[in-house]
Amino acid sequence: MATRGAWGSNTGFILAAVGGAVGLGNLWGFAYSASQGGGAAFVVLYFGFVLFVGVPVLTAELVIGRHTKRSPIAALAAVGGDRMKWLGVFFVLVGFGILSFYSVIMGWTGRLLVDFVRGAVPEDTAAHFGAISEGIGAIVAHFVGMIITILIIVRGVQRGIERVSVVLMPTLFFLIASLAVWAATLSGSGPGYAFYLQPELSELFEARTITGAAGQAFFSLSLGMGAMITYASYLPGRGSLPAKAGLIALSDTLVAFVGGLVTFPVIFHFGLQQEVSDSAIGALFIAVPRGLLSFGAAGQYVGIVFFSTLYIAALTSAISLLEVVSSAAIDSLGFSRSRAGWLGGAAIALAGIPGALSSDWVGFLFQLVGQACLVLGGLLLALIVGYVWKDSARAELLAGFDHPGLASAWIWLLRTVVPVMLAVTLYFSVVALGPVARALFD
Ligand code: PFF
Repeated sequence: MATRGAWGSNTGFILAAVGGAVGLGNLWGFAYSASQGGGAAFVVLYFGFVLFVGVPVLTAELVIGRHTKRSPIAALAAVGGDRMKWLGVFFVLVGFGILSFYSVIMGWTGRLLVDFVRGAVPEDTAAHFGAISEGIGAIVAHFVGMIITILIIVRGVQRGIERVSVVLMPTLFFLIASLAVWAATLSGSGPGYAFYLQPELSELFEARTITGAAGQAFFSLSLGMGAMITYASYLPGRGSLPAKAGLIALSDTLVAFVGGLVTFPVIFHFGLQQEVSDSAIGALFIAVPRGLLSFGAAGQYVGIVFFSTLYIAALTSAISLLEVVSSAAIDSLGFSRSRAGWLGGAAIALAGIPGALSSDWVGFLFQLVGQACLVLGGLLLALIVGYVWKDSARAELLAGFDHPGLASAWIWLLRTVVPVMLAVTLYFSVVALGPVARALFD
């Protein structure tokens, strides 16, 4: 078997994990969900969910990864016996499924970036998006994204993933902060912030708001499919895992929050509320370019920064997804890293073609694998760690974290609050599958 990679530094691991977490979900899903579900009421729920459900599950994934030093299939077999390896197989398939549509959206982002660089975004941004999102162009952009991702994965954990993350993540933070400063200068910033940050308390208690926040948080933190297990399997040494989980969750949430500080002023400045409420994709790929076009040269410049930010965010997430699939092929099938990366990546590129031909398929896959399957995966993980593997989990946690009381609280959350919340969320995300499935046949 090939030698397993390892992170070169703790910072390298954190930046890679934050890179996996921060993605299209932060910059598009979060603001969109907040705009649909009561502004700050959503934001507050989201923070609560991240703290009491996201961080415990993230910690569980880190504990499993570091303890077993294996990719999800072998890791779960080590934790729960041979039968549990099927959950690992499920995780790898979910990662495969997510990347197959995620890379298509990444391709749309790359295409708009190129269009902004060339100054070639037409006035009718809706028609333009229609033309670039489905068809040969979309397939090519999706393939290009997959090839870039594969080239990084085959270079290895330290020389590929870590090196790229250490450069791209600080760049991303800088770009998004610059965008937030720019957005603050817009005349729409006041009403935008007001809408974003004023709680609609009545919506706080709606099932849609609650489960919307939960599903969004899970996707955003990349939980429930072993991405974090995989990254933590390359962690050398001991160190505090809750501290790492907290830092990753905090960074991810901060980027999502600052993303809202960019999006809402733009939406209100250009009066795009209606278009945004029509669809999340519409907000990002139709409304934002339309707004920017009306700014002339400055708009072109902001467009380049905006879509570069999105592309970087998407790429580092795509890397973490392909790493799940590749590391499983390396550990379980004995493939070399380059064979695993190229074969896994090529299979995902092919599986993504339907999404590059129909954006309804992208919407359906997002709801199925990006929501329902992740929540199911997280639910099963919480039950396994909370009930079956709790003694070893506790010991592994305490190895670098000398707080027995907090360790007990963690196990308690995994046994109670987390499964209950995730079971309710799972129910609503399965119900939400109906409409997106019907859209496929309309
Ligand atoms: N967290 C990514 C985002 O917010 O866009 C999406 C994602 C990446 C989900 C990796 C799951 C995953 F394993």
